[in-house]
Amino acid sequence: MRSTQPRVIRVGPGDTALQEAFCGYVPQVFRTVDFRRWCAWGEWTDAYHAYCVFDDGQVVANASVTRMHLRVEGRDVLGYQLGAVGCIPSHRGRGLARLVMEAALDDCGAAPVVLFANKNVLGLYPRFGFVPRRQSLFGVSLTVEPGGEAAPVLDLTDGAVRARLHAWEETAAPVTERFGAWRHARIASWYAAADFARPLRRLSDDAWVFAGVEDGTLYVDDLFAREPFDLRPHLSRLVDAPVTSIQFGFTPERWWPEARELGEDTEADLFVRGLSLPDGPDRFPVMART
Ligand SMILES: CC(C)(COP(=O)(O)OP(=O)(O)OC[C@H]1O[C@@H](n2cnc3c(N)ncnc32)[C@H](O)[C@@H]1OP(=O)(O)O)[C@@H](O)C(=O)NCCC(=O)NCCS
Repeated sequence: MRSTQPRVIRVGPGDTALQEAFCGYVPQVFRTVDFRRWCAWGEWTDAYHAYCVFDDGQVVANASVTRMHLRVEGRDVLGYQLGAVGCIPSHRGRGLARLVMEAALDDCGAAPVVLFANKNVLGLYPRFGFVPRRQSLFGVSLTVEPGGEAAPVLDLTDGAVRARLHAWEETAAPVTERFGAWRHARIASWYAAADFARPLRRLSDDAWVFAGVEDGTLYVDDLFAREPFDLRPHLSRLVDAPVTSIQFGFTPERWWPEARELGEDTEADLFVRGLSLPDGPDRFPVMART
């Protein structure tokens, strides 16, 4: 039996060596996930902290906290999102996940906390005071033919493009006012760094969009603009073959008020703590999830 409880180390933006250890931990627990490129891009800011337990110089358990600008019924709510919660297989069942979760939650204080779980751990988060929140899919049936000049794809490996994406944090309106997040450029850039994002396309100087086509549907994952505008005239520039439907990666009440709730998003297991939310369906922005 251990005589002392392992120590939790808080890893932040300046801790390059500890970040490397964190990056070594992640794929041991989440096989397809990698933070290396995101770190190399300099995207780890003071909004992100990893609560790690080390053993022999390696991270063996972690819970990460992202400071979030949540948006609830038109109000800004300072909150947090947990992510990368795990323990490497050799160290499981010793209370290490509990240890890092408690350290991470201590840091959040009484502020609201959200997280997306996976199907194997749905029983874990209620132990820490979280409750599940149903997530919906939203879309519209619409035939869109290709036309006009294709919206240029922006390359986020280019630091100047990333700088502009960061600048949207100050100028872009929230995609949804119902329940979501905004100013999450460095979460969106994580998806791009990990090659999980749909292409970032430039509709104009004043409007960028993460969007792509799959099986005859145009997926509009995220939008950056000062205010919502009519998307219809721009859609043909985002497809290179006809599509018959559009789906949104967020609650589209501002961008497409006639969009329908298509049903429950059974892939998204959202848990919330200390957050009272309006009735009615919503979709937490897909590019604001950690
Ligand atoms: C789930 C995981 C984090 C648990 O790590 P661990 O260090 O073995 O967990 P602990 O020993 O600290 O257990 C903490 C508590 O959670 C419970 N628990 C552990 N695994 C659980 C699971 N899969 N589902 C529900 N509860 C679980 C334990 O019984 C314990 O309960 P208690 O403290 O109230 O008695 C670990 O198995 C893991 O990394 N899994 C793969 C990654 C993953 O799915 N992470 C979650 C991402 S959302």
